[in-house]
Amino acid sequence: MYPALLNTHSIIRFAVIIASVLSIILAFAGWFGNKEYTKGNKVLNLLTLISAHIQLVVGLILYFVSPIVNSADFGAAMKNSSLRYWKVEHMAMMVIAIVLITIGYSKSKRALASVDKHRTIAIFYTIAAIVVIAALAMSGRGIFGMTGA
Ligand code: HEM
Repeated sequence: MYPALLNTHSIIRFAVIIASVLSIILAFAGWFGNKEYTKGNKVLNLLTLISAHIQLVVGLILYFVSPIVNSADFGAAMKNSSLRYWKVEHMAMMVIAIVLITIGYSKSKRALASVDKHRTIAIFYTIAAIVVIAALAMSGRGIFGMTGA
């Protein structure tokens, strides 16, 4: 179960990154180009939200089965940078990013003007993407690295 979950989680990361990057590019183009917020924008932004939420669910299950996460208690994990990363930092940073995506999407839904919708997505999704990329860069496995590959 663990290798399958790890690979699934690893692959969904690409969906989250690709959907986020496309959402961000279109949001900035819409914001600065004063474009209408189309159904296509909404679907893409929703896909980013859904992929992030699926990643949250898979990540949470993985957290309880990962031999790395469960190899030490919190006290011991704090003294080892790799263990601390997988036990605390990865989860905390990714949850913050997913919360930002969720807030951004729901605020954009409530905004009335297209420019406000685009701006909200651009700001929240960009900060979330920076947090995700920073967290992956800290993992020691690379932003695009896959343990199973
Ligand atoms: C946008 C959100 C997330 C992204 C992009 C992401 C990405 C990744 C990546 C790339 C890996 C390494 C996969 C590999 O080595 O092949 C990983 C591992 C892991 N992630 Fe996430 N993750 C996210 C959210 C979460 C969350 C919310 C949790 C926990 C609640 C979590 C828990 C874990 C665990 C436990 C591991 C495996 C450690 C191990 O046993 O090697 N992830 N994640």
